[in-house]
Amino acid sequence: MRLKDKVCIITGAASGIGRAATLLFLQEGAKVAAFDVNEDSLKKLKEDSGNLKENLTTYIVDVSKFEEVKEAVGDVFKKFGKIDVLINNAGITRDALIEKLEEKDWDAVINVNLKGVFNMTKAVYPYMLEAGRGSIVNTSSVVGIYGNIGQTNYAATKAGVIGMTKTWAKEFSRKGAAIRVNAVAPGFIETPMVEKIPDKLKEFFQKKIALKRFGKPEEVARVYLFLASDESSYITGQVIGVDGGAVI
Ligand code: NAI
Repeated sequence: MRLKDKVCIITGAASGIGRAATLLFLQEGAKVAAFDVNEDSLKKLKEDSGNLKENLTTYIVDVSKFEEVKEAVGDVFKKFGKIDVLINNAGITRDALIEKLEEKDWDAVINVNLKGVFNMTKAVYPYMLEAGRGSIVNTSSVVGIYGNIGQTNYAATKAGVIGMTKTWAKEFSRKGAAIRVNAVAPGFIETPMVEKIPDKLKEFFQKKIALKRFGKPEEVARVYLFLASDESSYITGQVIGVDGGAVI
């Protein structure tokens, strides 16, 4: 078991990549605190975790709201006495070309994808510092590195996540703490987020990927697992692409 008795918080845990990561982490012996805004999907996650459900605690939390985040993170610490791993996975899209991109859609994406990562990390980091160790994994995207038409807001957040990752890798280790911070940059992964793309456009993108297919949520979850676990003990400040060779 690669995460035996590790206490892990996963945001956006109720769907797609976060859900796959939650189920995988449970199988690897972790105690998982699953944060999400979607109460019904959290209930389904609990049901689907079978005989591992006693190691899963669900929290209805909006990562864009600092007070909510702080209270839930405090509760995780009270319940388990430590926080070993934070997976900042929650994310949304509100796509439009810039002339049609409205202020509310800019704000919504910034608040979840960028401020949400800041809120979560600000709330969790003191517990890791106290313990002198921890692993934080942030979810970026190939779009944060290469840009994408119609994703001004999303690309800004995913590039910002890389900036925060590298900053925190330096900042959090400066007092001698073994707190590692890395990012994962997925390409196209088959989740509800990607289902919205029209079929013709999907075919166009698939042709451009070296492996000629989209990824599965589990294929990203396994990289989260590697970065969360002690197997990656000498890796920090890195951005790992999980994109089937979409950008080489
Ligand atoms: P998804 O849409 O399947 O799941 C996202 C989850 O986040 C949902 O359960 C949703 O309820 C939750 N969420 C949304 N707003 C929230 C908030 N304010 N507070 C807490 N939870 C909230 O998405 P998917 O595809 O699994 O994406 C996971 C991460 O991977 C995101 O950060 C996304 O940007 C990133 N990503 C996904 C790619 C893809 O192709 N699916 C590609 C590159 C990055």
